[in-house]
Amino acid sequence: MFKIVDKKQLTPLIYSLWVEAPRIAASAKPGQFLIVRTGENGERIPLTICDYDTEKGTVRIVVQIAGVSSNKICHLDVGDCLTDVAGPLGKPSDFMEIPEEDLKGKRYLFVAGGVGSAPVYPQAKYLHERGAHVDVIIGARNKDLIIMEDEMHNVCTNLYICTDDGSKGEKGVVTLLMERLGNKYDMCVAIGPMIMMKFATLTAKKLELPITVSLNTLMVDGTGMCGACRVSVAGKTKFACVDGPEFNGYDVDFDEALRRQTLYRTQEQQANSEAGLEFRR
Ligand SMILES: Cc1cc2nc3c(=O)[nH]c(=O)nc-3n(C[C@H](O)[C@H](O)[C@H](O)COP(=O)(O)OP(=O)(O)OC[C@H]3O[C@@H](n4cnc5c(N)ncnc54)[C@H](O)[C@@H]3O)c2cc1C
Ligand code: FES
Repeated sequence: MFKIVDKKQLTPLIYSLWVEAPRIAASAKPGQFLIVRTGENGERIPLTICDYDTEKGTVRIVVQIAGVSSNKICHLDVGDCLTDVAGPLGKPSDFMEIPEEDLKGKRYLFVAGGVGSAPVYPQAKYLHERGAHVDVIIGARNKDLIIMEDEMHNVCTNLYICTDDGSKGEKGVVTLLMERLGNKYDMCVAIGPMIMMKFATLTAKKLELPITVSLNTLMVDGTGMCGACRVSVAGKTKFACVDGPEFNGYDVDFDEALRRQTLYRTQEQQANSEAGLEFRR
């Protein structure tokens, strides 16, 4: 059992939780994720490690209520326990292989869509602490869905915000800001809804900017055995849980990934309506 030691509501549908998990905290790296279960018969759901504290032995997850299982997690309180937390899973971000002294002065552009700020945060923090120039774009449908703004300010050089309805920052989508900033970066990293990553990649291609994306495919076991997270990358079959979740955006077959994300839409909608939950998709 994994005890929740801190809980904060960030928006009406997004919560930040710190969870006791000393062994995971000791080995977690930016880019990795957990598979979490609530209740003996609970569904296994993947969540990014948003932060970790090796001294306290805790890890942070930021969870958006998207359906039944995320709703259950967000209704747990401090002192309650998650039944299972498996991790750290997946490969750490590519830049973890670059010697720290070579990261100094490197220029990174992060593009975070909605709850994508949670996976962007540990990466921006790692690079900022090692002297890289880190610019971050956060985009969301409206101002109520912008999260971690103050924390992000502390781990980047420039923070740009945009909303679809113009309620905060620039009115428009992240790709408009990407185009305005242009190609003055060594690398772009985009994390958010699959459709946003597809268009961020098309924009990066136009700008001739290398781009990494973090694929939020369906996942079940997280160990490369079940095939749920299968994606096509550079024409080859890959499993996002063990070969990723990060891939070169240029190589990803986004249209197939978008189709596969909706495989269980009917069952998800049925489970939501049985639980009295309603979501905009
Ligand atoms: C590597 C990775 C990291 C992620 N990190 C975060 C995070 O930090 N914070 C966050 O809020 N969400 C994150 N997600 C998405 C999160 O796992 C889903 O929102 C969650 O599983 C929804 O489950 P549900 O039962 O609440 O909703 P459901 O109603 O079951 O599904 C809602 C939508 O969530 C997605 N989803 C459902 N089941 C799964 C599953 N088993 N695996 C993956 N996606 C699923 C589908 O797109 C689905 O349409 C991540 C996903 C992946 C793959
Ligand atoms: S989640 Fe089962 S193979 Fe990746």
